[in-house]
Amino acid sequence: MNMIFKKFLPVAVAGAFAMGIGTVSAAPLTKLGKDLTDEERERVSQMVQGAPLPKDEELVHIPPTMEDLEASDLHPKMKEAIRRGHDLFVNTQQLRGKNVFNNMNCSSCHMAEGTMPYGGPVWPAAIDLPAYRGKNGHVNNLEERIVGCFTYSMNGKPLEYGSDDMLALSLYHQWLATGVPMFAKDKIYGRGFPRPGEPENAPDAVRGKVAYEANCAICHGEDGAGKKDGDKVIFPALWGDDSYNWGAGIARVFTLAGFTKHNMPLGKPNSLSDQDAWDIAQYVDSRERPQDPRYTGDIKETREMYLDTFHKHTLYGTEMDGKILGDHDNAGHKDFLKPEILRSRDFTGGKKAE
Ligand code: HEC
Ligand code: HEC
Repeated sequence: MNMIFKKFLPVAVAGAFAMGIGTVSAAPLTKLGKDLTDEERERVSQMVQGAPLPKDEELVHIPPTMEDLEASDLHPKMKEAIRRGHDLFVNTQQLRGKNVFNNMNCSSCHMAEGTMPYGGPVWPAAIDLPAYRGKNGHVNNLEERIVGCFTYSMNGKPLEYGSDDMLALSLYHQWLATGVPMFAKDKIYGRGFPRPGEPENAPDAVRGKVAYEANCAICHGEDGAGKKDGDKVIFPALWGDDSYNWGAGIARVFTLAGFTKHNMPLGKPNSLSDQDAWDIAQYVDSRERPQDPRYTGDIKETREMYLDTFHKHTLYGTEMDGKILGDHDNAGHKDFLKPEILRSRDFTGGKKAE
């Protein structure tokens, strides 16, 4: 281990503890904001460290922990499958070179094992899918949502639908949602990576670089490549071949600004100003990364095709330092561009006019 790891790992570990990883398990919670007791509100407040607290009409859900799983009376075979799903979620690198082609685990972005409000909790997908998704223009189920993060965020080749690992991983999401009614229509507290306050000045990559170097480079590197200790990823990459590709949700500046504001620097969430979060997001999301798997071979055409549903929020296909971002054939560490599993769907009973 070099100096930087020695100096900063304790910060990361302290952060993880503050976020509730490894703390004594407290009971799962499912309530509307207005029904929370003072104690429950305090518990949520300690979890989210400075993010806005639940509004009256918002649904607050704190999922069960792995300790709760062991203590539960679920069938041992269920426990085994949920453990496998959890293990895939936090150590997705075990699928490196097969399904994952960058340095990410699911938990690199979905904080506290996918349970954290404001840190991309994953259980909402288990209660509100199947549903229509603008990103691909059809009705998606939970497996398909997971396929999306494999394709873009992990720059990968998704697990097969219906495979044992896919069942385990989707079951982990469903189990986290324990106690939340299917298709609950309440607004979910801290879903996704909520957008920070609007910046006073338009997000700017030049200012962003300065703020990045002051707040992020110590862990993620000046070159954004992150850090590895042998094969083990210590800090994941923010750009370049080891990072998420141009089609990933977090390549949208507002999403990365929300992620950054509420989750980074690790262990100090909500410490940056909104302006810094936007500027840093503008900088990071204007660095090169693997091609969008939906690339048609023509950058202008691809940007246009997905402009309304996606790329109007990214810098893909725009000019930066005299170059067009994303104008290349580099798919990163994989030897294909688009995984075969991506397809449209037809619910007309075969009557769809092609
Ligand atoms: C590089 C960051 C990143 C990684 C890695 C990542 N995701 Fe995501 N994920 C996102 C973003 C961004 C969203 C969209 C959040 C939003 O809607 O604002 C998302 C959304 C989701 C959702 C939907 C949540 C909801 O509220 O409906 C699920 C489920 C999910 N991811 C599962 C996974 C799984 C499983 C993996 C690992 C195979 C994974 N993600 C890896 C960034 C990531
Ligand atoms: C103390 C070290 C540390 C600092 C400082 C830090 N990060 Fe992170 N960051 C991490 C770790 C560790 C993860 C993975 C989280 C996990 O696995 O629990 C991460 C994950 C991320 C991710 C999602 C995964 C990826 O690689 O895309 C993004 C984006 C990110 N950080 C951005 C930032 C930004 C922007 C800053 C500066 C404001 C920052 N980080 C500061 C340690 C750090």
